[in-house]
Amino acid sequence: MNSLSFFNYKNNALFAEDVSVKTVAESVGTPAYIYSKCAIEEAFTAYFDAAGDNDLICYAVKANSNIAVLNILSKLGAGFDIVSVGELERVIAAGGDPAKVVFSGVAKKSSEIARALDVGIHCFNVESEAELERIQQVAQSKGVQAPVSIRVNPDVDAKTHPYISTGLKENKFGIHISQVIDVYAKAQDMPNISIKGIDCHIGSQIIDPKPFIDALKRLLPVIEQLNGMGIELSHIDLGGGVGVQYDDETPPDVAAYIGKIKTLIEPQGLGLILEPGRSIVANAGILVTEVEYLKDNGEKHFAIVDAAMNDLLRPALYQSWMRIEAVEQKAGEAKDYDIVGPVCETGDFLGKHRSLVIESGDLLSVFSAGAYGFGMASNYNSRPKACEVMVDGDQFYEIRRRETFADLIEHETLLP
Ligand code: LLP
Repeated sequence: MNSLSFFNYKNNALFAEDVSVKTVAESVGTPAYIYSKCAIEEAFTAYFDAAGDNDLICYAVKANSNIAVLNILSKLGAGFDIVSVGELERVIAAGGDPAKVVFSGVAKKSSEIARALDVGIHCFNVESEAELERIQQVAQSKGVQAPVSIRVNPDVDAKTHPYISTGLKENKFGIHISQVIDVYAKAQDMPNISIKGIDCHIGSQIIDPKPFIDALKRLLPVIEQLNGMGIELSHIDLGGGVGVQYDDETPPDVAAYIGKIKTLIEPQGLGLILEPGRSIVANAGILVTEVEYLKDNGEKHFAIVDAAMNDLLRPALYQSWMRIEAVEQKAGEAKDYDIVGPVCETGDFLGKHRSLVIESGDLLSVFSAGAYGFGMASNYNSRPKACEVMVDGDQFYEIRRRETFADLIEHETLLP
């Protein structure tokens, strides 16, 4: 998948689809997230076309939850993977179908379970026995049946960054595979629980497809055992996690990945649910920032830009490498820069050791910023959040305006 191809240089100037990135920045200011509608559509369609009529591609809302993004995906037939009632309300506000929503997350509150039941979601991905009991109670109080899958922790190493690995025994997610049969047996006896499937999500930014297949192979005997107990599942949910190209990674081909899964689950006659997030939106977005100052301490060159860790946390939090280039590329002597933001933390950087020809006032683009970019932004250092822009062909639309100072203090009050 290479949605990167929707961000191209023409005569040394960066374009998002057919729109000049500089033109967008001049119109909306910086920092600004810019997304390509075509790139989102292409990435989603790769999943959708490889899946069957009985399958559901549930976009993981946390990757980029702007309602314009959700609306584009909903129109293409997407379901949604949510982890909070806030995400559920976003899906509904964006015109998404609650009947195609799966609800993951380790700490679902009773009020969240109640709302999800009221709107009729597709399935709860249950992450503990205590949660199963709570879902039973809430469903009973409403006199309805709650559709559930049990999230299995298969104890498989996804070989990704430890902070985004979720399928190991030491992680807080899911129910360990050795306990899962007992939990299904309990679910079977609960009057307001309707068992629909089995679920697993082992981590994110996974480049080697082997751990996915290993996890699936661990689930297959569990499914057989459940059949023996008279529990017939209608789907298997294998979560998200397919990695993308930030640098020189070669991520799994989505169609081949789905083909392989389908072959393995065919004998069980199960529908497939996937929960891709990053692989739909990461390479459909960039973060544009302006160089405020260049600074040289004799040994190092710093490019101090107007975007910071509050806008894009991934480099600071995971030491993630994200490609950074000048929006207008010019000839000249390149220097080795650390690209740092205005926030008062040494960890506030977007990239280190980047060879660039730049001066104050130039624009930089941080690529692959469409996933876990704006969604992880904060107001740290009282910085208003950046705006978000969607490009569609030769048009662009501000899909979230830049925050103002008034937004920052909107929910605060002085003592009487
Ligand atoms: N399903 C579940 C239950 C998840 O927890 C996640 C991501 C996904 C699906 C989507 O995974 P994806 O296809 O995007 O890999 N902030 C981190 C990534 C955290 C991922 C959390 N869970 C980052 O910036 O790398």
